[in-house]
Amino acid sequence: MAHDMINDLEEILFSREEIAEGVRRIAQEIARDYENRQLVCVGILKGGFIFMSDLVRELPMQIETDFMVVSSYGNNTSSTGALIIRKELTTDIRNKDVLIIEDIVDSGRTLSYLKQYLSGRGAASIKICALLDKPEGRTVELEADYKVFECENKFVVGYGLDFAEKYRNLPLIGVLKPGVYKNA
Ligand code: PRP
Repeated sequence: MAHDMINDLEEILFSREEIAEGVRRIAQEIARDYENRQLVCVGILKGGFIFMSDLVRELPMQIETDFMVVSSYGNNTSSTGALIIRKELTTDIRNKDVLIIEDIVDSGRTLSYLKQYLSGRGAASIKICALLDKPEGRTVELEADYKVFECENKFVVGYGLDFAEKYRNLPLIGVLKPGVYKNA
């Protein structure tokens, strides 16, 4: 089905098929690495919801799922600012392996903070799985343990990623035309 939203893109970076293939590839790695472990997949809302739902359905073992909502204090230029936790875990992660599932790593601040925050909860391990990595955006040192794609520092939307809360439901990943966000 064609989406009107595609007209707002200047470029398609990853098609539905490429995403599905990438998600399957990462799921196989995760399934191999966490064989016989107690894995808790923690999706970070909102951006991570579509990736998380596709990814966990490709994992052929029993896992637990949970979600968190976080937001930054607003000063995006600061690399030290803490995050506000808007929704906490409801799962006990003690002695379990936690995999944080995010749509994008940009500055790295969100995940670096979350990793620290969750490490105080007694997890056996904490790793990061990101759909997209924008290495050029990094202001803190952080590496995703699993990543599906790398992308340039462009305004990407779709497959969970938004502009002003829209475009998350676009089933592919593309670059938004500058006219769209400049005129908003
Ligand atoms: C995005 C994304 C990550 C974070 C990454 O979330 O989902 O959580 O930014 O950026 P960073 O590496 O620079 O910290 P956003 O705050 O846009 O919220 P959303 O998930 O609700 O879209």
